[in-house]
Amino acid sequence: MPTLKLSTKTTKIRKLILNILGIESSCDDTAASILTEAGVLSNVIASQSIHIQFGGVVPELASRAHHQTISQTVKQALTEAQLDIRDIDVIAVTQGPGLIGSLLVGLSFAKGLSLAHQIPLLGVNHMDAHIFANTIEHTLNYPLIALTVSGGHTQLTKLNSSNELEIIGKTRDDAAGEAFDKIGKLLGLNYPSGPLMDAHSREGNPTFHAFPRGLIHQGLDFSFSGLKTSVLYYLQDQDDAFISNHFNDICASVSHAITEVLVAKLERAMQVYSIPRAVLAGGVSANSMLREKVAIMAKKNGFIIHQPALAYCADNAAMIAATARIMLQNELSIGLEQRLRVGWEIHPYASLPG
Ligand code: KG4
Ligand code: ZN
Repeated sequence: MPTLKLSTKTTKIRKLILNILGIESSCDDTAASILTEAGVLSNVIASQSIHIQFGGVVPELASRAHHQTISQTVKQALTEAQLDIRDIDVIAVTQGPGLIGSLLVGLSFAKGLSLAHQIPLLGVNHMDAHIFANTIEHTLNYPLIALTVSGGHTQLTKLNSSNELEIIGKTRDDAAGEAFDKIGKLLGLNYPSGPLMDAHSREGNPTFHAFPRGLIHQGLDFSFSGLKTSVLYYLQDQDDAFISNHFNDICASVSHAITEVLVAKLERAMQVYSIPRAVLAGGVSANSMLREKVAIMAKKNGFIIHQPALAYCADNAAMIAATARIMLQNELSIGLEQRLRVGWEIHPYASLPG
């Protein structure tokens, strides 16, 4: 087993004067980013359009597309940052959760770079990374509640510190993004329909129809599958002319139902745990109705709730690099060299950090 020559890098890491290359490939976006002391120098995202014709992500095609684009994506991130691979001190790569084939492409590529250039490698938890995307623009104070809403997950997390995370609520069926995507599909919108539903909703009346708000009065778990079924039956009962005349109103009513539940649960979590600070995270945190309602709820309660910039909501590699920076800060005192030396032994999901 070869070992990395870490002496110079470790000195820099100890001082946290770092140039971090982040690599993300967990689903259908190939992403690379450079994060330095000066901030995010590049944030390149190659989105895969091939899945549109299938109405959802086809894992095998996603892996192939990652393989085709990853080298170029990393090169572009370095070029935009005006750095060479030899300037990179740490490579941070998504270790999971995600599609196994997609993860393997990013991990294998990162391991290759790590070995070829003797750069320490760190595996990053994708869900933690959505939360720590907020550290790119804000200093976070703990304890803190995070509402993470993506295509695969909907969860509330309590962070006692940046390395003590506890999931306090999650979806029992569909994720919020999945609900947007599946309901959008029923309405004939292309995948991913979350952003399209958002755009149509802005032109519609959110109180046009009252769709169900699953579990809204109950605990911190979520449920969106009932809403999906309810929209299906509602659409079956209407004729085409009605649906097309009220398309924006229907989209707005669905968005209203989803976002109202999300905000109610976030507010409950903050009240139950008496924690007045929170962050939004994940692709759905780009939703305009959600952002507006969260801002109103924060103001009403005197809470501080950070929302990531739109560039850091959906899958990106800047959030992977930002999380690596947090992990390094946390681990300075506990065997940093050992952690980094075993970097290339990381496998998808194996002892996932976070
Ligand atoms: O975090 P993300 O990029 O990937 C996962 O980790 O899943 O989230 C993708 C999800 C998709 O379901 C997409 O439709 C949804 O985020 N999304 C939105 C918006 N932008 C992205 N949903 C509602 N409104 C948006 N503006
Ligand atoms: Zn994600």
